Amino acid sequence: MDRTRRLRMHPVIRKMVREEHVRIDELIYPMFVIEGENICEPVNSMPGINQYSLDRLNEELDRVKAAGVPAILIFGIPAHKDEVGSGAYDEHGIVQEAIRYIKREYSDLLVIADVCLCEYTSHGHCGLVKNGEILNDETLPLLAKTAVSYADAGADIIAPSDMMDKRVEAIRNALDKHGMVHVPIMSYSAKFASAYYGPFRDAAHSAPGFGDRKTYQMDTANGQEALREVEEDILEGADMIIAKPAMAYMDIIKEIFLNYNIPIIAYNVSGEYSMVKAAAANGWIDEKKIVMENLTGMKRAGAKMIITYHALDAAKWIKEEE
Ligand code: PBG
Ligand code: ZN
Repeated sequence: MDRTRRLRMHPVIRKMVREEHVRIDELIYPMFVIEGENICEPVNSMPGINQYSLDRLNEELDRVKAAGVPAILIFGIPAHKDEVGSGAYDEHGIVQEAIRYIKREYSDLLVIADVCLCEYTSHGHCGLVKNGEILNDETLPLLAKTAVSYADAGADIIAPSDMMDKRVEAIRNALDKHGMVHVPIMSYSAKFASAYYGPFRDAAHSAPGFGDRKTYQMDTANGQEALREVEEDILEGADMIIAKPAMAYMDIIKEIFLNYNIPIIAYNVSGEYSMVKAAAANGWIDEKKIVMENLTGMKRAGAKMIITYHALDAAKWIKEEE
Protein backbone atom coordinates (compact mmCIF):
# COMPACT_ATOMS: atom_id res chain seq x y z
CA MET A 1 0.00 0.00 0.00
CA ASP A 2 1.41 3.38 -0.92
CA ARG A 3 2.12 5.78 1.90
CA THR A 4 3.73 8.98 0.65
CA ARG A 5 4.55 10.01 4.23
CA ARG A 6 7.23 7.28 4.44
CA LEU A 7 9.70 9.50 2.62
CA ARG A 8 8.94 12.45 4.89
CA MET A 9 9.75 10.86 8.25
CA HIS A 10 13.53 11.30 8.30
CA PRO A 11 15.17 14.70 7.68
CA VAL A 12 18.01 13.09 5.71
CA ILE A 13 15.58 11.28 3.43
CA ARG A 14 13.62 14.49 2.98
CA LYS A 15 16.80 16.18 1.80
CA MET A 16 17.66 13.28 -0.49
CA VAL A 17 14.32 13.28 -2.29
CA ARG A 18 14.13 17.05 -2.56
CA GLU A 19 13.48 17.80 -6.24
CA GLU A 20 14.45 21.45 -6.50
CA HIS A 21 17.15 23.67 -5.04
CA VAL A 22 17.73 27.39 -5.24
CA ARG A 23 21.43 27.79 -6.00
CA ILE A 24 23.49 30.92 -5.44
CA ASP A 25 25.00 30.40 -8.93
CA GLU A 26 21.59 31.04 -10.46
CA LEU A 27 20.79 34.33 -8.73
CA ILE A 28 20.86 37.71 -10.45
CA TYR A 29 20.73 40.93 -8.42
CA PRO A 30 19.19 44.11 -9.94
CA MET A 31 20.98 47.40 -9.20
CA PHE A 32 20.08 51.06 -9.76
CA VAL A 33 22.86 53.42 -10.73
CA ILE A 34 22.04 57.12 -10.65
CA GLU A 35 23.93 60.03 -12.20
CA GLY A 36 25.41 62.40 -9.63
CA GLU A 37 27.80 62.27 -6.71
CA ASN A 38 27.81 60.85 -3.20
CA ILE A 39 24.34 59.34 -3.53
CA CYS A 40 22.97 56.35 -1.62
CA GLU A 41 19.25 57.08 -1.80
CA PRO A 42 16.82 54.54 -0.33
CA VAL A 43 13.88 53.58 -2.53
CA ASN A 44 10.93 54.14 -0.17
CA SER A 45 8.69 51.47 -1.67
CA MET A 46 11.51 48.89 -1.68
CA PRO A 47 13.04 48.59 1.81
CA GLY A 48 16.70 47.57 1.59
CA ILE A 49 17.13 48.78 -2.01
CA ASN A 50 19.03 52.00 -2.77
CA GLN A 51 20.04 54.03 -5.78
CA TYR A 52 23.82 54.54 -5.91
CA SER A 53 25.92 57.06 -7.73
CA LEU A 54 28.99 55.65 -9.43
CA ASP A 55 31.37 56.92 -6.74
CA ARG A 56 29.53 54.89 -4.07
CA LEU A 57 28.56 51.85 -6.10
CA ASN A 58 31.46 49.95 -4.55
CA GLU A 59 29.56 49.80 -1.23
CA GLU A 60 26.85 47.66 -2.79
CA LEU A 61 29.19 45.76 -5.12
CA ASP A 62 31.25 44.68 -2.13
CA ARG A 63 28.10 43.22 -0.58
CA VAL A 64 27.27 41.42 -3.83
CA LYS A 65 30.75 39.94 -3.89
CA ALA A 66 30.66 38.95 -0.22
CA ALA A 67 27.30 37.24 -0.72
CA GLY A 68 28.77 35.27 -3.62
CA VAL A 69 26.05 36.40 -6.02
CA PRO A 70 27.61 35.97 -9.48
CA ALA A 71 25.57 38.36 -11.64
CA ILE A 72 23.94 41.77 -11.59
CA LEU A 73 21.31 43.41 -13.78
CA ILE A 74 21.97 47.12 -14.26
CA PHE A 75 19.42 49.93 -14.54
CA GLY A 76 20.46 53.54 -15.06
CA ILE A 77 18.86 56.76 -13.87
CA PRO A 78 20.16 59.68 -15.95
CA ALA A 79 20.29 63.31 -14.78
CA HIS A 80 18.59 64.50 -17.96
CA LYS A 81 15.81 62.99 -20.03
CA ASP A 82 14.62 63.93 -23.51
CA GLU A 83 12.03 62.96 -26.11
CA VAL A 84 14.29 60.42 -27.79
CA GLY A 85 15.97 58.89 -24.74
CA SER A 86 19.44 59.86 -25.87
CA GLY A 87 20.92 59.08 -22.44
CA ALA A 88 20.40 55.39 -23.21
CA TYR A 89 22.81 55.34 -26.15
CA ASP A 90 25.20 58.08 -25.01
CA GLU A 91 28.70 56.64 -25.09
CA HIS A 92 29.27 58.23 -21.68
CA GLY A 93 25.81 57.53 -20.32
CA ILE A 94 25.38 56.39 -16.73
CA VAL A 95 25.05 52.68 -17.58
CA GLN A 96 28.00 52.73 -19.98
CA GLU A 97 30.19 54.34 -17.31
CA ALA A 98 28.93 51.95 -14.65
CA ILE A 99 29.67 48.92 -16.81
CA ARG A 100 33.21 50.14 -17.50
CA TYR A 101 33.78 50.72 -13.80
CA ILE A 102 32.39 47.33 -12.74
CA LYS A 103 34.28 45.39 -15.39
CA ARG A 104 37.48 47.16 -14.30
CA GLU A 105 37.08 46.82 -10.51
CA TYR A 106 34.94 43.68 -10.19
CA SER A 107 36.00 41.77 -13.27
CA ASP A 108 34.55 38.39 -12.33
CA LEU A 109 31.04 39.75 -11.80
CA LEU A 110 28.70 39.00 -14.73
CA VAL A 111 27.11 42.24 -15.92
CA ILE A 112 23.71 42.09 -17.58
CA ALA A 113 22.46 45.37 -19.09
CA ASP A 114 18.73 46.06 -19.26
CA VAL A 115 18.00 47.74 -22.59
CA CYS A 116 15.02 50.08 -22.66
CA LEU A 117 14.28 53.75 -23.23
CA CYS A 118 11.76 54.44 -20.43
CA GLU A 119 14.36 55.59 -17.88
CA TYR A 120 15.73 58.05 -20.46
CA THR A 121 12.65 59.50 -22.16
CA SER A 122 10.88 62.61 -20.88
CA HIS A 123 7.51 60.91 -21.48
CA GLY A 124 8.60 57.74 -19.68
CA HIS A 125 7.59 55.33 -22.44
CA CYS A 126 9.76 52.45 -23.63
CA GLY A 127 9.77 53.66 -27.23
CA LEU A 128 9.56 56.83 -29.31
CA VAL A 129 6.25 58.69 -29.10
CA LYS A 130 4.41 60.52 -31.88
CA ASN A 131 0.93 62.00 -31.44
CA GLY A 132 0.43 59.94 -28.32
CA GLU A 133 1.33 56.66 -30.05
CA ILE A 134 4.30 54.52 -29.05
CA LEU A 135 6.16 53.84 -32.30
CA ASN A 136 7.58 50.40 -32.96
CA ASP A 137 9.89 50.28 -35.98
CA GLU A 138 11.27 53.77 -35.40
CA THR A 139 12.34 52.68 -31.90
CA LEU A 140 14.31 49.63 -33.07
CA PRO A 141 17.47 51.43 -34.26
CA LEU A 142 17.71 53.24 -30.91
CA LEU A 143 17.43 50.00 -28.95
CA ALA A 144 20.05 48.41 -31.20
CA LYS A 145 22.35 51.40 -30.73
CA THR A 146 21.88 51.20 -26.95
CA ALA A 147 22.65 47.48 -26.93
CA VAL A 148 25.82 47.92 -28.98
CA SER A 149 27.05 50.72 -26.76
CA TYR A 150 26.46 48.64 -23.59
CA ALA A 151 28.23 45.66 -25.13
CA ASP A 152 31.03 47.94 -26.25
CA ALA A 153 31.39 49.19 -22.66
CA GLY A 154 31.77 45.56 -21.57
CA ALA A 155 28.28 44.22 -20.81
CA ASP A 156 28.33 40.41 -20.79
CA ILE A 157 24.63 39.99 -21.65
CA ILE A 158 22.05 42.28 -23.27
CA ALA A 159 18.50 42.17 -21.86
CA PRO A 160 15.90 44.09 -23.89
CA SER A 161 12.81 44.89 -21.79
CA ASP A 162 10.92 47.30 -24.06
CA MET A 163 8.50 44.81 -25.71
CA MET A 164 8.69 46.36 -29.18
CA ASP A 165 8.13 43.77 -31.93
CA LYS A 166 11.31 42.61 -33.74
CA ARG A 167 13.71 44.20 -31.30
CA VAL A 168 15.62 40.98 -30.67
CA GLU A 169 16.30 40.69 -34.41
CA ALA A 170 17.37 44.34 -34.60
CA ILE A 171 19.70 43.96 -31.62
CA ARG A 172 21.16 40.64 -32.82
CA ASN A 173 21.91 42.08 -36.25
CA ALA A 174 23.54 45.17 -34.78
CA LEU A 175 25.68 43.19 -32.33
CA ASP A 176 26.80 40.82 -35.10
CA LYS A 177 27.61 43.69 -37.43
CA HIS A 178 29.88 45.11 -34.73
CA GLY A 179 31.68 41.80 -34.29
CA MET A 180 29.92 40.97 -31.02
CA VAL A 181 28.58 37.61 -32.15
CA HIS A 182 29.28 36.07 -28.73
CA VAL A 183 27.27 38.53 -26.65
CA PRO A 184 24.07 36.70 -25.64
CA ILE A 185 20.59 38.22 -25.63
CA MET A 186 18.43 37.54 -22.60
CA SER A 187 15.04 38.68 -23.83
CA TYR A 188 12.12 39.80 -21.71
CA SER A 189 9.76 37.81 -23.94
CA ALA A 190 6.77 37.18 -21.70
CA LYS A 191 6.48 40.56 -20.05
CA PHE A 192 3.03 41.48 -18.81
CA ALA A 193 1.54 44.96 -18.32
CA SER A 194 1.61 44.46 -14.58
CA ALA A 195 0.84 46.63 -11.57
CA TYR A 196 3.67 44.74 -9.84
CA TYR A 197 6.20 47.08 -11.49
CA GLY A 198 4.98 50.05 -9.41
CA PRO A 199 7.87 50.16 -6.89
CA PHE A 200 10.42 49.72 -9.70
CA ARG A 201 9.13 52.86 -11.36
CA ASP A 202 9.82 54.75 -8.10
CA ALA A 203 13.30 53.26 -8.07
CA ALA A 204 14.08 53.95 -11.74
CA HIS A 205 12.08 57.18 -12.15
CA SER A 206 10.45 55.56 -15.15
CA ALA A 207 6.66 55.82 -14.74
CA PRO A 208 4.96 56.74 -18.02
CA GLY A 209 4.01 60.44 -18.12
CA PHE A 210 0.72 59.71 -19.89
CA GLY A 211 -1.34 56.57 -20.49
CA ASP A 212 0.04 53.14 -19.69
CA ARG A 213 2.16 50.40 -21.26
CA LYS A 214 -0.73 48.26 -22.46
CA THR A 215 -0.07 48.80 -26.18
CA TYR A 216 3.29 47.05 -25.89
CA GLN A 217 3.39 44.94 -22.72
CA MET A 218 1.14 41.88 -22.66
CA ASP A 219 -2.42 41.66 -21.35
CA THR A 220 -2.28 39.98 -17.94
CA ALA A 221 -4.94 37.45 -19.00
CA ASN A 222 -3.03 35.98 -21.96
CA GLY A 223 -1.10 32.75 -21.45
CA GLN A 224 -1.15 31.41 -25.00
CA GLU A 225 0.01 34.71 -26.39
CA ALA A 226 3.06 34.49 -24.13
CA LEU A 227 4.15 31.40 -26.06
CA ARG A 228 3.88 33.33 -29.33
CA GLU A 229 6.12 36.01 -27.87
CA VAL A 230 8.65 33.41 -26.80
CA GLU A 231 8.59 31.64 -30.17
CA GLU A 232 9.07 34.91 -32.02
CA ASP A 233 12.01 35.93 -29.82
CA ILE A 234 13.70 32.54 -30.24
CA LEU A 235 13.34 32.80 -34.02
CA GLU A 236 14.83 36.29 -33.88
CA GLY A 237 17.86 35.05 -31.97
CA ALA A 238 17.16 35.20 -28.24
CA ASP A 239 19.51 32.95 -26.23
CA MET A 240 17.54 33.02 -22.97
CA ILE A 241 13.99 33.95 -22.08
CA ILE A 242 12.77 36.09 -19.18
CA ALA A 243 9.24 35.72 -17.83
CA LYS A 244 7.87 38.44 -15.56
CA PRO A 245 6.37 38.97 -13.10
CA ALA A 246 7.10 35.55 -11.60
CA MET A 247 4.69 34.68 -8.83
CA ALA A 248 1.30 35.39 -10.40
CA TYR A 249 2.66 33.93 -13.67
CA MET A 250 4.13 30.58 -12.62
CA ASP A 251 1.87 28.91 -15.20
CA ILE A 252 3.62 30.91 -17.91
CA ILE A 253 7.05 29.74 -16.72
CA LYS A 254 5.85 26.14 -16.74
CA GLU A 255 4.34 26.45 -20.22
CA ILE A 256 7.56 27.89 -21.63
CA PHE A 257 9.51 25.13 -19.89
CA LEU A 258 7.31 22.42 -21.38
CA ASN A 259 7.31 23.88 -24.89
CA TYR A 260 10.82 25.21 -25.48
CA ASN A 261 14.34 24.02 -24.97
CA ILE A 262 15.94 27.24 -23.78
CA PRO A 263 17.07 28.61 -20.39
CA ILE A 264 14.28 30.48 -18.62
CA ILE A 265 14.79 33.32 -16.15
CA ALA A 266 12.05 34.20 -13.66
CA TYR A 267 12.00 37.89 -12.76
CA ASN A 268 10.77 38.19 -9.16
CA VAL A 269 9.72 41.83 -9.66
CA SER A 270 9.64 44.88 -7.43
CA GLY A 271 6.01 44.64 -6.27
CA GLU A 272 6.51 41.01 -5.29
CA TYR A 273 9.54 42.04 -3.26
CA SER A 274 7.76 44.96 -1.60
CA MET A 275 4.77 42.85 -0.53
CA VAL A 276 7.04 40.35 1.19
CA LYS A 277 9.08 43.10 2.87
CA ALA A 278 5.96 44.89 4.11
CA ALA A 279 4.39 41.78 5.59
CA ALA A 280 7.71 40.74 7.13
CA ALA A 281 8.24 44.18 8.67
CA ASN A 282 4.86 43.80 10.35
CA GLY A 283 5.83 40.43 11.73
CA TRP A 284 3.03 38.78 9.77
CA ILE A 285 5.23 36.32 7.88
CA ASP A 286 8.65 34.72 8.28
CA GLU A 287 10.72 36.57 5.65
CA LYS A 288 13.40 33.93 5.16
CA LYS A 289 10.95 31.05 4.83
CA ILE A 290 8.60 32.97 2.55
CA VAL A 291 11.39 34.17 0.25
CA MET A 292 12.92 30.70 -0.08
CA GLU A 293 9.48 29.17 -0.67
CA ASN A 294 8.76 31.72 -3.42
CA LEU A 295 12.12 31.21 -5.11
CA THR A 296 11.77 27.42 -4.88
CA GLY A 297 8.38 27.72 -6.55
CA MET A 298 10.00 29.53 -9.47
CA LYS A 299 12.55 26.73 -9.83
CA ARG A 300 9.81 24.11 -9.65
CA ALA A 301 7.90 25.92 -12.40
CA GLY A 302 10.94 25.57 -14.66
CA ALA A 303 13.09 28.66 -14.17
CA LYS A 304 16.83 28.07 -14.54
CA MET A 305 17.82 31.44 -13.11
CA ILE A 306 16.09 34.02 -10.93
CA ILE A 307 16.38 37.80 -10.99
CA THR A 308 15.48 38.96 -7.49
CA TYR A 309 15.94 41.91 -5.13
CA HIS A 310 16.19 39.27 -2.37
CA ALA A 311 19.37 37.83 -3.97
CA LEU A 312 21.85 38.96 -1.30
CA ASP A 313 19.66 37.72 1.57
CA ALA A 314 18.81 34.51 -0.26
CA ALA A 315 22.49 33.80 -0.89
CA LYS A 316 23.21 34.26 2.81
CA TRP A 317 20.36 31.93 3.79
CA ILE A 318 21.41 29.30 1.25
CA LYS A 319 24.94 29.35 2.68
CA GLU A 320 23.60 28.98 6.23
CA GLU A 321 21.71 25.83 5.22
CA GLU A 322 24.80 24.18 3.73
C1 PBG B 1 11.86 48.77 -18.00
C2 PBG B 1 11.71 47.72 -16.96
C3 PBG B 1 10.70 47.59 -15.99
C4 PBG B 1 11.04 46.50 -15.20
C5 PBG B 1 12.21 45.97 -15.73
N1 PBG B 1 12.60 46.72 -16.84
C6 PBG B 1 9.53 48.45 -15.67
C7 PBG B 1 8.44 48.64 -16.63
O1 PBG B 1 8.32 47.94 -17.64
O2 PBG B 1 7.67 49.55 -16.37
C8 PBG B 1 10.27 46.04 -14.00
C9 PBG B 1 11.09 45.43 -12.92
C10 PBG B 1 10.47 45.36 -11.56
O3 PBG B 1 9.30 45.70 -11.33
O4 PBG B 1 11.20 44.92 -10.68
N2 PBG B 1 11.11 48.56 -19.16
ZN1 ZN C 1 10.90 50.42 -20.51
